Amino acid sequence: MSNAKLQISPSVLSADFSRLGEQIASVVESGGEVLHLDVMDGHYVPNLTFGPLLVKAIRKMTDMILEAHLMISEPDKYIDDFIKAGADIVLVHPSTCASVSETLKHIRALGAKAGLVVNPDEKLTIVEPYLGEMDQLLIMSVVPGFGGQSFMPEVLDDLPGLRPALEDYHILVEIDGGINKSTIKSVLNQGIHRFVAGSAVFNKQASPGENFTLLQNLAITGK
Ligand code: DX5
Ligand code: ZN
Repeated sequence: MSNAKLQISPSVLSADFSRLGEQIASVVESGGEVLHLDVMDGHYVPNLTFGPLLVKAIRKMTDMILEAHLMISEPDKYIDDFIKAGADIVLVHPSTCASVSETLKHIRALGAKAGLVVNPDEKLTIVEPYLGEMDQLLIMSVVPGFGGQSFMPEVLDDLPGLRPALEDYHILVEIDGGINKSTIKSVLNQGIHRFVAGSAVFNKQASPGENFTLLQNLAITGK
């Protein structure tokens, strides 16, 4: 996984939902391959977003890899629905699962990739027992719940210690929260393969495709 290509995963959380198809198409035209879908239930996190119905609608709009980041209590109840709706990757917070191993197994058994998410107030090492059962690690660099928050650099303090094990298990490492054209430079060359960007892609400064290209170039070249 260390040689894996670096990818920007735009989060639709900041998109203009009245022209979502157009905004997604703009990213695709610029070479976007992955889309990040932030599912929030107003319970695990204070904010409320969308469920499988919108994932299904987005699935009809694009062939992109869809990753569903479930910020919901009792995700086990809804995993089947999200995968049926078209999610290719399901990311869950360990504290929301009755049995983390069972949840990961269930996601994989349904043909999707399974990932765990670590919050800023949790240690990255909480995923260690599950390294053989997961495909992806999502490191939160903001407290989950809202787009447009400031990047928290300290969430990467534990990454060097865990990196060899992540590489041994070929786990894709992703970071989520506060990634923009300034902060992305500080998270390069640390074994992170995928960078979620919401407000830095979907904003009024430029088209989603233009913003995507800027970030993608920064991820690849560092400038
Ligand atoms: C926060 C979400 C993030 C968020 C990122 O709870 O998980 O994916 O949308 O948004 P920005 O890039 O604006 O911080
Ligand atoms: Zn997210």
